[in-house]
Amino acid sequence: MAEDKKVLYSAMQATGALHIGNYYGALKNWINLCDEYECYYAVADLHALTVRQDPAELRKKARNVLMMFIAAGLDPEKNCIYFQSHVSAHAELTWILNCFTYMGELSRMTQFKDKSAKHADNINSGLFTYPVLMASDILLYQTSVVPVGEDQRQHLELTRDIAERFNSIYGDVFTIPEAYFGKAAARVMSLADPSRKMSKSDENPNGCIYVLDDKDTIIRKFKRAITDSETQVVYSDTKPGIMNLIDIYRAATGKSVEEIEKEFDGKGYGEFKLAVGETVADAMAPIRNRYAELSADKAYVDGIIKTNAERAAYKASKTLRKVQKKVGLPERIR
Ligand code: TYM
Repeated sequence: MAEDKKVLYSAMQATGALHIGNYYGALKNWINLCDEYECYYAVADLHALTVRQDPAELRKKARNVLMMFIAAGLDPEKNCIYFQSHVSAHAELTWILNCFTYMGELSRMTQFKDKSAKHADNINSGLFTYPVLMASDILLYQTSVVPVGEDQRQHLELTRDIAERFNSIYGDVFTIPEAYFGKAAARVMSLADPSRKMSKSDENPNGCIYVLDDKDTIIRKFKRAITDSETQVVYSDTKPGIMNLIDIYRAATGKSVEEIEKEFDGKGYGEFKLAVGETVADAMAPIRNRYAELSADKAYVDGIIKTNAERAAYKASKTLRKVQKKVGLPERIR
């Protein structure tokens, strides 16, 4: 890995099955950008503990996400792909940064409000300080750019605020990171209800398309996508279902809105939905195949997990030591 490039950092929670919102909103941009940066991609397994998890399932889901990163096209020799929990500096920096983050800032986080409403029986303090762990992830690596979906915008702004606050007291300790959002699909909506973002927790199984869904399933879900009662494929606020499909098609093909409107001029929604379904299914097929190969190669994946955790820990420890010194923690005697 070239160490003279700027750093790119991103992560996904250890949810197991990634959907096309994760893919087109974030992962595909990671792949597009990875040659320009020194890249770190974590499976956020500590973040996943903010909701109750079955231990065996969590381990499996975390490994599945890590394999998905590789299957989608990130070369683990060039990109540092690792489990967040394997680098203890994340938890250590979180404690320190908790002391530089205000309760009022954390109470304003929409994800905290949404998740506490969804898990009313388990509003734990991890859920509340979730964004501080995320800020620590990013700041530990002296990150310049963080490619994420639109739903992470507020967390990125808080990360910048925390970093600026810390720097204003102690000097230039942290690089101030910028969020990166893709041109299309920064917010992929549910196919069953285009007013809500696509999410694994969608009650309607047709609303969410998984990267590992087979071709028939993907096409069937697109065919059932909720749209309006008109027929013209036009990008307009009044047609949220069609807008969402156009955004997905843009992200999948790189075509512009104008090109897409022209391509389907006079063709109707049925033909358009089928084209989107086929294009997405064809893009997912090689990922599914590579994922199956990786699942069968335990030794290879274990090797990646080991060496990349060491690489990440080395980089993170440099920032952590600097922070510990700045805030006045006693130096280690070696
Ligand atoms: P997570 O695991 O919910 O989502 C992973 C990535 O997928 C994006 N995403 C979407 N993009 C477009 N449309 C959607 N419907 C959609 N759903 C999800 C998310 O924006 C994200 O980029 N807190 C983070 C994980 C995290 C992290 C970090 C990210 C932990 N530490 C450090 C960046 C940097 C999360 O819960 O993402």
